[in-house]
Amino acid sequence: MNLAFTFGGVSSEIYIEESLHDIRAIINADGGAFGGARLLVCDENTAGIANRIAASGAFGGDQAMSQTGGLCVLPAGESAKNWTNVEKILKTARDAGLGRDGVFIGVGGGVITDMTAFAASVYMRGAKLALIPTTLLGMVDAAVGGKTGFDLFGIKNFIGTFYPSPLIIMPLESLSTLPIREWRSGFAELLKTAVLDDSDDFLDRVGRLKDAFSSPDFPASMLQDSVLRKELLACIARSVEIKGRIVEEDPGEMGTRRRLLNLGHTFGHALESSVGLGILAHGEAVAWGIARACDLGRALGATGRDRAEKITGLLDSFGYETRAPHPRLKETGRFMDALFNDKKKKAGKLAFIVPEQRGCGVIFIEKTIERILHIINGEDA
Ligand code: GLY
Repeated sequence: MNLAFTFGGVSSEIYIEESLHDIRAIINADGGAFGGARLLVCDENTAGIANRIAASGAFGGDQAMSQTGGLCVLPAGESAKNWTNVEKILKTARDAGLGRDGVFIGVGGGVITDMTAFAASVYMRGAKLALIPTTLLGMVDAAVGGKTGFDLFGIKNFIGTFYPSPLIIMPLESLSTLPIREWRSGFAELLKTAVLDDSDDFLDRVGRLKDAFSSPDFPASMLQDSVLRKELLACIARSVEIKGRIVEEDPGEMGTRRRLLNLGHTFGHALESSVGLGILAHGEAVAWGIARACDLGRALGATGRDRAEKITGLLDSFGYETRAPHPRLKETGRFMDALFNDKKKKAGKLAFIVPEQRGCGVIFIEKTIERILHIINGEDA
């Protein structure tokens, strides 16, 4: 399946494929656009996939990888998303002889694709880029839309650029080895995007995957059933399409349109950092944040009861924690500090995305501590 977008003047072609086999053909067929020396960037978890891509000839013909490019294997996890590893990518590219026509290929989850894209964006003032997201979160969110970056001063994605990847290939095959925690993160983003859609059809469609998702056999229960596998692929494609169209309208997040993609993230990020980074999967925090966005929308009169109950009920049925207060949240003060330090504040006001009767809307709120405290304590729903 092939989708195409234009993000701030850059064309971005997205292929959603069954297997890794297709990657060689796609990269090598792209009109010579990816003909320069290639650098594969991966982490310890995706090195096997990167090596298979290299062995498939994605580096060009039968030439040895060392003659035509390089491989940079980084440690896995959010703690690796730092300048030291960006520098390592840049150094490996230089040592492998990449010029400005060199192609950086990021193979992995959001940490790898964000860092690879950042490195490509600054290498000799901008090298070529292709991304191969191997996690559900990477496919439905991180790799699409041009945000790049790494963490600095303890702040997530503090440094970054907008640098859309002209080529993104999503191999469904790579999901078969994805840890459950990663699935939970990805599914929350899928549900988030479905809540943003103008009709309930997509939300209902994702909802129909919940039995397979909750099965003890998951992910085999979904990936080995040809009907459900096709449904998953269709949901990924729909999610990419919704995100892509939103980003096309507001590629640099200058207006309010792209902010919609932060549904559940303002509350979610604050929860993640106040209970301690790494305790909750990102998607678990986002799912809880979507439930709080429903509460806030209800309190402000923007979200109807039926809509809020439908969304929260769906999150519950996927097994996400939606209760307020969150059982792991012990220090409300830390939560509030994290909330009001959100780097996406505009003119001192926090932006919250709340579900509306169709899709979602953005509201800016000043320090209305009382109201937010009620919401996270479950007193204002
Ligand atoms: N992950 C939100 C965005 O791409 O804007």
